[in-house]
Parts: sequence; structure tokens; C-alpha cells
Amino acid sequence: MCGIVGYVGERSSLDVLMGGLRRLEYRGYDSAGVAVIDEGGSLETAKRAGKLQVLADELERHPLAEGGTGIGHTRWATHGGPTDRNAHPHLGDDGRLALIHNGIIENFSELKAELLAEGFAFESETDTEVAAVLLGREFHEVGELREAFRRTVGRLEGAFTLLAVHRDQPGLVVGARRNSPLVIGLGEGENFLGSDVAAFVEYTNRAVAIGQDQIVSITADGVEVTDFDGAHVDVEPFEVAWDASAAEKGGWSSFMRKEVAEQPEAVQKTILGRAVDGKVVIPELEAFGDDRLRDIHRITVVACGTASYAGLVAKYAIEQWARIPVEVELSHEFRYREPVLDEHTLVVSISQSGETMDTLMAVKYAREQGAKAISICNTQGATIPRESDAVVYTHAGPEVAVASTKAFVAQITALYLFGLHLARVRGTLDDAALAENLAELQAIPEKLEAVLGESDGVAQLAHWMADTRSVLFLGRHVGYPIALEGALKLKELAYIHAEGFAAGELKHGPIALIEPGQPVFVVVPSPRGSQNLHPKVVSNIQEIRARGARVIAIAEEGDAAVLPFADEVVRIPLAAPLFEPLLAVVPLQVFAMELAEAKGLDVDQPRNLAKSVTVE
Ligand code: F6R
Repeated sequence: MCGIVGYVGERSSLDVLMGGLRRLEYRGYDSAGVAVIDEGGSLETAKRAGKLQVLADELERHPLAEGGTGIGHTRWATHGGPTDRNAHPHLGDDGRLALIHNGIIENFSELKAELLAEGFAFESETDTEVAAVLLGREFHEVGELREAFRRTVGRLEGAFTLLAVHRDQPGLVVGARRNSPLVIGLGEGENFLGSDVAAFVEYTNRAVAIGQDQIVSITADGVEVTDFDGAHVDVEPFEVAWDASAAEKGGWSSFMRKEVAEQPEAVQKTILGRAVDGKVVIPELEAFGDDRLRDIHRITVVACGTASYAGLVAKYAIEQWARIPVEVELSHEFRYREPVLDEHTLVVSISQSGETMDTLMAVKYAREQGAKAISICNTQGATIPRESDAVVYTHAGPEVAVASTKAFVAQITALYLFGLHLARVRGTLDDAALAENLAELQAIPEKLEAVLGESDGVAQLAHWMADTRSVLFLGRHVGYPIALEGALKLKELAYIHAEGFAAGELKHGPIALIEPGQPVFVVVPSPRGSQNLHPKVVSNIQEIRARGARVIAIAEEGDAAVLPFADEVVRIPLAAPLFEPLLAVVPLQVFAMELAEAKGLDVDQPRNLAKSVTVE
């Protein structure tokens, strides 16, 4: 939520900032702005409501002067609507300093009242401007940006990443973070700051993640990190595994289309190096220790949105394989209901970004109560893994489209690997069963290719249904979270009312929604499943069909029982029942994406959303 870039070096800072903002635009896209200190030492800014392109067009018409120091911001509005005036940067010290912000300054009203009483004036409705004006006041007193900045952040409460520049100190960008992300990019004769590594991966793959309550200052030749009291902090650089091209569209018409197509690779890379001789090996869990895994009495998964549905899918597999109770909680609900936790509870967080504030807070809370925490995360250097006892990375590569697709299948893959690892450590599956399940997982990438190869039929269906106003999704067992995910994708991409239900719940209420012509997607379980769910779901299909529903069944190849009752059948390859979600979700993603495109919508940046939700 909000993307931040800072640069000091020999290059044109404007080029670096605009390139970085393009890569970070998924974090928020209702306004954007830049501030540059030019060679003559004057501070120039430009900011515009709307997507980054609006700012780019403005800069084309009215270029800023060249300079090697600058900061840039792409916004997802919290306080104050998306207007030019509320866009960042905000200015302080009579226009001599510029400041940008990601997060929420919770005590901004008190601070604003204090500053107003002292005669300071404000131009925007934002909490951010308060920090800019406060920094100006402090600079006026101490005459030095680092110290003024340290004094300013010491007054702020809430969640924030802040970057600031002052025209009297060209060649210096200062930054601070509390509960919002900030990463340093280490270059040769230049240094970078970004909300995540995508901001600078084009220039360097050496990075440093800044810790909680830390301040950083970068110049062309150096980087200094301190705590909020000014005490030096040692930092440890890491290598960024992504290259710049991974975060580019590479010829695809949208990031979403590219990311949907990358799902076989996302699964394959997440398995890579973790399957050895029919056994799962997760080197990242070595330090956590097998004894601790044996000592767990239950698992609580915390996550939001799509990530929580990955957790719901994995619940079935982990309980079946490792015989341990698993509950899945939305992070924001979990944190505020005084959950019962102890040292035998393992909290598994799932987060693509690793920055979702609700999930971060849930993890922190759980650890404070004595629980252990393992993070499933797709972003190196992110906050949630750093706040956890161990991390199992998904290797989906950068996910830029705001709605999650490839990260979802990678999350299920990592959770399944974890479930098999747990089953081995706890002795609940024998070697043959472990090898069999692992082989099923290893076969998924090829089967995903096959599903993707059949996307044309789904695309056609979506185009026929472009005027649909409501779609329902049904599933059972592991198909239930897939129904929820199918509905979420359609809501967020195509702005169509959509709801997912457990098929068994239908008779308990939702069947009242069925009227002639109502489209219903049904994720049909395999007829080969041991729990005999298939005939039950086929009966559900008959029930809704009898009431006029238009049924689109997602069913495995060769399942003839659905044919007499379904209006359309989308086929997926055979897989063991627990592995079907990895395949069944793809037609639903494709349907939502194609329908949104048929309606002329932007599938990469749906309205009102941001990729990384770093406010509670
Ligand atoms: C939906 C979607 C969101 C995220 C959720 C959690 O397509 O992308 O529901 O899954 O906001 O985000 P992360 O995984 O970054 O914690």
C-alpha cells in the first residue's frame, strides 16, 4: 500500500524514480509524485492524482531539472481523497524539504493541532503533511536533516515508512520505518531505497532489509542505519533472487495474463531443491528443529484473502497427513478475539507480500503469547518472515498484478511440502505414502500446462457472459476454498457480485438465490475420491438445475456423470483428490480475467485495491 522510492547517485534521479514507481505501482495507483534536488540545489516537485502515467505525461510537458537526489511515491489513499493536493510529496520548511509516506500516522490530529497553534499552515487533508511540517520545524531548530528527522519520527505513532530530502543537504535521503516496509539497494557510487526490491532490482541485486523502528540515511557512497535513538545498527546484505526481467510484462498484454501462465513454473520452483529421493527436505526448517515440530499440538493458519484460501486448502491435507488439528483464521479477526495460544501452538502465516499489516500483527501477537511462528512468504527481506521463527519461501517470482494468482498455487505447494515434512517428522505417513504424495505434487506443473492449454473455451464462456450480474460458486472439501477463491477473483477483477458456498450448505439457505438463468460454477470432486463426495455434489447440481440454474462444472477428465446436468463442462486432468485445487482454480482465474477484459477493465490494477495492504 503506497510505493516508495529514493535515490542518490550519478544517474538522473527522475529516471530511477519513475522506473521504480512503475514497478511499485501495484502497491497503490490513485496518485503519484516525485521530488528532485537539482544540481543548483533547488528542490523541484511534481505530483498528480490518477495513475502514474498521468504524472509521466505531466513531466513530459513540464520536465523537472536534472539532479541525482530524489524521492518518489505512488499512493493508495487513506487520509484525504485521491487529489493532486493530497498526493505526495508533501513539503515543509517553506518548501525547502519534501517528504513521502506509506502507512498511517495515528496521532496526526494532535500533532496538527500543536502545529496549527504555532501558526503553521497546511495545504492537504493528509496525515503525511503533518510529518513534513513537523520535520520542517525540527530542521529549523537543529539545522541538520538526520537529526531533525530522528526527532520527528520520535514523535510519530502508528505505521509508517517515511523518506525525506532537504535542498540544503543535496546528496542525502533519509528514511525511517515502523510496521511498514523499507529496503535499501546497495549500488556502486549510488544507493537506493524502496518499499520492496522491485524498486531498484534493475540496478542492483544487493539489498538490506531495514528492521523495525530504524532510520536509514543514504548518500552516493554510503549507508548508515540507526535505531530511533540514533544508536548504530549493523546490517546484513542479501542477494535478490529475482532479476529485473521477472518483474516486466515480457510481451504479455497484462501482468495478470503473464502470471496466470507462469503458474506451472511457480509450483515447480517452489518444489525445487525440496524433494530428495521421494522425501521432502526443507532446509529453512532445520534451525527450527524437528523436536519443536513434534511438540506442536495444533496449527493456526493466519492470512487474509486469497492467502487464507490457500490455508483452507492446506488444512485438509495437513490434517489428513500429519494428524494435527489445523484452524484457519483471517488475521484481522484472530488478533482481536484473545485466541488461546501456548508454546505448543504453531502459527503458520501465509503472505505473498510478507507485509500485510493484519497478518504481521497476528504473528507478533501470537509470538508474544508464546506460540511459534512459521511464515510462508513470496518476498525476500519482507517483514513477516523477519518477525517469525522460520520462513518457507514460495518461489513464484514477483507478482505484480494486484489480484493474486501464481502466488496462490505456490502457497498451496509450499504448505503441502510443509505438511509432508511434518508427517515425516511426526511419523504419521510411511515412506511409500510420502513418496506417492510428493510425486503427485511434482506432477502438477505439467498438468497445469494442460489446463492452461484449454483456456480458450473458458475465455469464450467469459465473453458470452460479459453482461452477467451475479455468479455463484460451489465446492466441497478442498473444492470449497476454490469456490471462495473463484468468487473473490470475479468480484475484484470484474466487479461482479459473486459468492462462494460449500455445496453441502446449499440447502441450508443459499439455494433460495437460484432462479432461472443464474450461473453457478461447481467444482466437482473426483469420482475416485475415497469419501464418496462426487455423487453428493452431482445431486447438488441436479437440485440447482431443477430450479433453472445454468451450471458450469469444473470436472476431471472422463467424469461422465456430470454431463447430463451441466450446461458447460470445463475439464481438468486427473490428479489425487487433495491436489485437484491446484488445477481447478486455474479456469476460475481465467474466467474472471477474461470477463474483466471483455468489460474493458484493467485486470492488473482493479479499482480501490492495492497489492500490499500495509494498514490495518
Ligand atoms: C486477492 C488478493 C488478496 C491477498 C491478500 C493478502 O486476489 O490478492 O486477497 O491475497 O490481501 O495479501 P498477502 O498475501 O500479500 O498477505
